[in-house]
Amino acid sequence: MNSYFTGKTVWVTGASSGIGEALVYALDREGARLIISARRKDELERVRSKTSRPEQVDIILMDLASEASVKDAIRSCFEKHERVDMLFNNGGISQRADALETPTDIERQLMEINFFSNILLSKAVASVMKENGGGHIIVTSSLMGKWGFFLRSSYAASKHALHGYYDCMRMEVEQYGIQITLLTPGFIASEISVHALDSSGKATGAMDNNQATGMSTAACAAGILRGVAAGKTEFGIGGKELLGLKLRRFAPALFEKMLRKRSAR
Ligand SMILES: NC(=O)c1ccc[n+]([C@@H]2O[C@H](COP(=O)([O-])OP(=O)(O)OC[C@H]3O[C@@H](n4cnc5c(N)ncnc54)[C@H](OP(=O)(O)O)[C@@H]3O)[C@@H](O)[C@H]2O)c1
Repeated sequence: MNSYFTGKTVWVTGASSGIGEALVYALDREGARLIISARRKDELERVRSKTSRPEQVDIILMDLASEASVKDAIRSCFEKHERVDMLFNNGGISQRADALETPTDIERQLMEINFFSNILLSKAVASVMKENGGGHIIVTSSLMGKWGFFLRSSYAASKHALHGYYDCMRMEVEQYGIQITLLTPGFIASEISVHALDSSGKATGAMDNNQATGMSTAACAAGILRGVAAGKTEFGIGGKELLGLKLRRFAPALFEKMLRKRSAR
């Protein structure tokens, strides 16, 4: 086997569940060397044990809500690894709360996890990629990075911010052989809604129908690897909800009307 991923050192964040976990298994099958990160050590160990060469998978714990923790993780990574060829900057958290009821500290928390820590990690990894002659950074945004929806104001803001940031960074780093791909998943059957923050900053604990009936994480990961290997700069993964990308562009008034009729959960 020899694919775009074979033999590459690949760092996956948000690897303890959902899309990140499925990416780990898909990358393992492609022969990538894996570094996996999240907060929950036991879940990362469970994921590692399900790969074909668990002894070669490096676990680096990291809390994206803490700048110090992200910096520690970066230090730990480059003490052990000379290079990272690919970063799947995937860890993140959603929101299910009205804008008017969400306090600023919860809004800041969502921005810290989904935006500031994300770019901190990318800058550090891109600096090493530059020294090593190139690499590929893949960032999990969302359709919420393209438009807004009920109960997700700060989440959508954090994902929109990723697009502005990485569309600029891409232009600056391509001269060093560094590619940047933005992913905009639709409804994927992970626990994102269960872990989403309510207005008090607690996890909702509730599985949304949109996620329960969404694309499997395995199919999502397979689609991600196909698009990344093809060198796309941005692409959607999901079901019928991706039609919104075209509808919003060509029939914006109809799109806005249809969006308001959908269930927020
Ligand atoms: N599922 C969807 O429908 C959907 C749609 C669009 C975009 N996305 C995006 O896809 C990405 C992955 O989400 P998912 O759907 O796979 O949901 P998930 O199952 O809830 O996974 C989220 C991952 O992010 C990690 N994470 C959350 N908070 C963290 C923190 N403070 N520090 C470090 N890691 C943290 C979690 O690990 P720990 O809890 O162990 O830390 C977990 O591994 C997210 O960026 C999400 O916004 C998902």
